Amino acid sequence: MRTMIIAGNWKMYKDLTETRDLILALKAATPSLPDRVQSVVCPPFTSLALAGELLKGSAFQLGAQNMSQHDEGAYTGEVSAKMIKATGASFVILGHSERRQYHGETNELVNAKAKKALAAGLHPIICVGETLDEREKGVMVQVITTQTKGVLAGIPAHDMANCVVAYEPVWAIGTGRTATPQQAQEVHQLIRKLIAQQYDWALAERITIQYGGSVKPDNAAEILTQNDVDGALVGGACLKADSFSAILKAAKV
Ligand code: 13P
Repeated sequence: MRTMIIAGNWKMYKDLTETRDLILALKAATPSLPDRVQSVVCPPFTSLALAGELLKGSAFQLGAQNMSQHDEGAYTGEVSAKMIKATGASFVILGHSERRQYHGETNELVNAKAKKALAAGLHPIICVGETLDEREKGVMVQVITTQTKGVLAGIPAHDMANCVVAYEPVWAIGTGRTATPQQAQEVHQLIRKLIAQQYDWALAERITIQYGGSVKPDNAAEILTQNDVDGALVGGACLKADSFSAILKAAKV
């Protein structure tokens, strides 16, 4: 049995006051989670330390949304794995399509970041996903294969066990247009097969593969019942305690 992980990617929302309000509301709405269900909140860097304090002893874990591939140095505006870890975070989202699209992140860079995150004891949530154009051109399988192989290259099996993969079709992010449960299952199965090819089936069967893209309280249960869908990476619907809590209630294993 795999762990189901529901993560909330706050993106560039919530200042410190708003962070406090949302976290207190989340803790009140969800004092505990079922066995084998985990939830991670991923606020912006500026809110990580506060969120880390507020989440101590709660049902939630903490994650960042990005990370530098360097340990430290003259890299203005960057944040290292060690700094993230010190806030109490245990996860970090890497290679989100918005990082790829607006900040030029490549599979090679995401791979380097994943290795640094693992070395620091963080669980990377590594994102892959095709654009609408790629899906319509019929190259989705190639795109997902190239991305998955690229971001996981050279990661040893014992580290792979600490990774989460998130399938986020770019055309479903923030559009209200979610992948059908069958479309999600098809790609998740492909990703798991690719992991099995690089490692083995025993390891591939243990890896949590999340779906992301317009997950809402009213569609979460259906998507999460698919065999190879082991959680969700939630954007818009994680910004309110009631909708994120409703998605958490849909997560049963
Ligand atoms: P939405 O849930 O707003 O579509 O965002 C998904 C996402 O990008 C999570 O990382």
